[in-house]
Amino acid sequence: MLVCIPEVLTKDEVAAIRSELDAAKWESGLKTAGPQAALVKNNRQLPPGSSLADKLGDRVLEGLSRNPIFMSAALPLKILPPMFNSYAGGESFGVHVDNAIRVVPGTPVRVRTDLSCTLFLSDPEDYDGGELVVEGYYGAQEVKLPAGDLVLYPSTSLHKVEPVTRGERVASFFWLQSMIRDDQHRSLLFDLDQTIQELGAEVGADHSAAVRLTGIYHNLIRAWADT
Ligand code: NI
Repeated sequence: MLVCIPEVLTKDEVAAIRSELDAAKWESGLKTAGPQAALVKNNRQLPPGSSLADKLGDRVLEGLSRNPIFMSAALPLKILPPMFNSYAGGESFGVHVDNAIRVVPGTPVRVRTDLSCTLFLSDPEDYDGGELVVEGYYGAQEVKLPAGDLVLYPSTSLHKVEPVTRGERVASFFWLQSMIRDDQHRSLLFDLDQTIQELGAEVGADHSAAVRLTGIYHNLIRAWADT
């Protein structure tokens, strides 16, 4: 399931993050790439674990925590600290799959990467190319969203970032372990939750059918969730 979520950050929040990133020192993206990804990765990153990365990452996490669609779609258990990258001057990231397990920097905590997230921090008209292309059951999907919007997709997918041939593409990216390991189960729960919200808005959340469906939703989480 690939889900695009609008306005995870406001335009003002994006502008504030960008003003700090635009003055920051980037380093080669190869530092955090696995052996296969290193062959095709050509971009720059903010040094992970730096005080600036931590500070800006917290702002991204704040945006996520107040977003009900993100919570419903991801059902996050552990979120790795958000990182930041930049592509310009023809930089790209060829087809790869993300590492299955990542360690939270500076800790022994391991996170299974169930979902990969990209939060766009450049508007599409500010650069050419730079589409995130995700291969899924129904073929490849191209994603290029307004600044402040986020895409999440299964980390099991092959994906790439097309070369940026004009301007600069700045983004935050991160992974998370979901309480729901199975992508199909997670998709069903998202669909069910969105349906319950829609039904509740139509007939009231206290309608008996809405209450029973809410019970089913929670019982499925009880059956499937890691905690
Ligand atoms: Ni990737």
